[in-house]
Amino acid sequence: MKILARITTLVLLVSASAFARAEQEPAPEQCIVCHGKEGHDLTQSIHAKAGIGCTSCHGGDAQALEVEAAHGKELKRFKTPREALEACGSCHSSVEQMRIYGLRTDQLSLYWTSKHGQKLAQDGDPNVATCISCHGAHDVLRAADTRSPVHPFNQVATCGRCHADEKLMQQYKLDASVVAQYRNSIHGRALMEAAHPSAPACATCHGSHGANPPRTRDIEQVCGQCHSVVQGHYDDSPHAKAAKLGKSSVQCNSCHGSHSVQQPSPEMFLGDAEGHCGSCHMDEKDAARGIANKLHDGITQLGAQIDDAEKDLRTAAGRGLFLGPEKGYLDEARGLLVRARASTHKLSPPAQADILDRGAASVMQTREGLETKGRIFRDRKIFTGIFCALTLIFAVVLLMYARIIRGGGKHWAAADLEADDER
Ligand code: HEC
Ligand code: HEC
Ligand code: HEC
Ligand code: HEC
Ligand code: HEC
Ligand code: HEC
Ligand code: HEC
Ligand code: HEC
Ligand code: HEC
Repeated sequence: MKILARITTLVLLVSASAFARAEQEPAPEQCIVCHGKEGHDLTQSIHAKAGIGCTSCHGGDAQALEVEAAHGKELKRFKTPREALEACGSCHSSVEQMRIYGLRTDQLSLYWTSKHGQKLAQDGDPNVATCISCHGAHDVLRAADTRSPVHPFNQVATCGRCHADEKLMQQYKLDASVVAQYRNSIHGRALMEAAHPSAPACATCHGSHGANPPRTRDIEQVCGQCHSVVQGHYDDSPHAKAAKLGKSSVQCNSCHGSHSVQQPSPEMFLGDAEGHCGSCHMDEKDAARGIANKLHDGITQLGAQIDDAEKDLRTAAGRGLFLGPEKGYLDEARGLLVRARASTHKLSPPAQADILDRGAASVMQTREGLETKGRIFRDRKIFTGIFCALTLIFAVVLLMYARIIRGGGKHWAAADLEADDER
């Protein structure tokens, strides 16, 4: 009896909660009967998951099946970029609404600080980016979703839709080649071809909602987000000191470019192509040229020593020697070369001397190790040679002895027969 009562209550509870849920679920909006595409896009979006429907943004009567009734008098059509912006901002600027989702609420206020926002505020320019140019209106996805147009993988295409458009950019006297430059840079290739998790995309350097070109003196901070060791050395350089005094503006991008960053090489110290030392320090007698030569020689010499030692190490490894410690020394030298290359940004050969000396010492240790093991290898070879020769001689002697014994045996056998005959 007791069990039956319990089951009945359980069934009642379950059906009651199911009923409650059905009541909470909003009836499907009829707008989609006529607006299939928007309906489809919205179901894919993060907004649909949060229960946001057509009327949340547009207003209107979701249950009406006639155009006039459905739209009503107040339907929001978002005909100007500003109206659309405010629609998105109405929820996304509200701490109350965003708190439970853990989302920031500064997108709209940051937007007004961006070049995009400033221009829109100035004259309602419809060409600048608004929320929907970057995120879409109906098919809005989470920023971290790799399919989202604002995901780092897709920013080149999203920002590039306007920023690679030469005609459009001309109106604003902006360089439309920055997108192609970025795509072919070490950063662009690292992100788009190798999916490098920490390669910068457009918004990493510019910000997304507050997108601005970095002010010249902020560029080292932009690059320093990831290249902090190099930034530290750069800060000690005469260029940085002059920049801080406002006397010059030599920044990371003066030598590396902003969008066209490529793998740097020591040739930059000697050359006069754009960004190379010689492009600004044109006078052969400029003290900077002497310094550039020394920096070049320091790292290329250590580099060459490491390459040579590496070759010998490989030959030795081919002989089956155990070279653990020597490999260790050479790795240490390689690490020091990396540090030496970064420290060239101080533009001070004396400040670098210590690292280069330690690098050379590690190469020396590698060489000494290889020589000792080479000697052991040689000794072992000689010993093996002697051992082989002795074994051979011993074998020959043994063979000869065996012959003699076999030859003598015949003799004795014959003598025995002769002795039998005599008997
Ligand atoms: C019976 C079909 C029908 C229903 C239901 C309907 N619409 Fe429409 N809607 C139309 C037609 C036709 C147009 C084009 C004429 C116009 O702009 O009024 C339109 C236009 C719109 C536009 C403006 C497009 C533009 O470019 O200006 C919006 C926004 C819109 N509908 C939203 C909604 C919403 C939201 C709902 C539900 C509350 C809804 N519609 C329900 C037929 C419908
Ligand atoms: C998160 C807010 C939001 C939601 C939810 C939303 N819309 Fe929109 N909708 C917009 C904005 C913003 C625009 C303006 C887009 C533009 O100018 O490109 C727009 C544009 C439209 C247009 C005009 C499209 C065009 O090509 O001109 C129609 C029709 C429309 N919405 C219908 C719907 C329907 C139907 C739903 C529900 C399935 C819906 N919207 C849900 C924000 C929203
Ligand atoms: C009715 C309120 C409302 C409106 C209007 C609205 N949103 Fe949202 N939006 C939300 C909520 C709530 C979430 C959180 C959903 C979640 O995290 O599950 C969200 C999530 C997002 C996200 C994903 C954030 C993340 O986690 O990466 C983006 C992007 C976004 N909205 C952009 C927009 C854009 C663009 C518009 C204008 C076309 C807009 N929103 C209009 C309420 C709104
Ligand atoms: C120029 C392109 C661009 C514009 C314009 C833009 N966004 Fe974003 N948005 C991004 C990018 C890129 C991200 C990815 C995260 C980041 O880099 O900040 C993002 C992330 C978001 C997120 C995820 C949460 C967060 O802040 O990290 C929300 C929500 C959002 N945007 C809403 C908006 C709203 C609302 C507007 C309009 C006021 C807007 N966005 C305008 C590019 C843009
Ligand atoms: C819908 C087109 C459009 C999209 C998408 C767009 N932009 Fe823009 N952007 C513009 C226009 C137009 C200007 C020129 C505004 C001006 O100079 O007043 C501009 C200006 C800028 C500037 C300022 C340049 C300067 O020196 O004045 C930066 C930086 C920028 N955008 C970055 C971005 C980034 C990053 C993205 C992608 C996350 C992006 N934009 C997406 C149209 C767009
Ligand atoms: C590694 C950092 C970095 C990345 C990544 C980057 N930029 Fe820039 N961008 C800069 C710096 C620094 C400047 C300012 C100095 C300059 O003009 O070279 C700049 C300037 C700009 C300008 C103004 C150009 C002008 O003609 O005045 C635009 C527009 C721009 N970037 C758009 C983009 C877009 C779009 C992307 C993505 C395809 C992007 N940037 C990626 C660092 C970056
Ligand atoms: C978000 C992080 C990030 C930012 C910001 C960034 N970089 Fe990089 N950078 C990387 C990564 C990751 C690589 C390595 C790419 C690879 O090895 O494929 C790299 C590679 C480089 C290289 C080549 C280094 C080498 O060892 O060959 C140079 C030079 C460089 N960046 C300069 C800059 C400059 C200049 C800026 C600022 C305008 C900058 N980076 C901003 C992440 C960043
Ligand atoms: C005066 C010109 C100049 C300036 C300014 C400059 N660099 Fe360099 N950078 C070079 C040269 C030359 C090399 C090549 C050194 C080499 O080949 O070993 C280099 C190499 C690099 C490397 C690769 C070296 C390594 O560690 O493997 C990175 C990363 C780098 N620079 C980033 C930066 C950043 C970030 C800034 C700004 C904080 C900056 N550079 C400022 C000239 C410059
Ligand atoms: C974009 C132009 C530019 C590039 C490229 C450049 N410099 Fe300079 N450099 C300057 C300017 C301008 C000053 C003067 C700063 C001042 O007023 O003290 C300077 C000053 C110096 C100084 C200190 C003053 C002196 O002459 O003794 C040294 C050292 C120096 N540069 C070395 C280098 C080296 C090494 C490179 C290449 C890695 C290089 N510079 C690349 C512009 C440049």
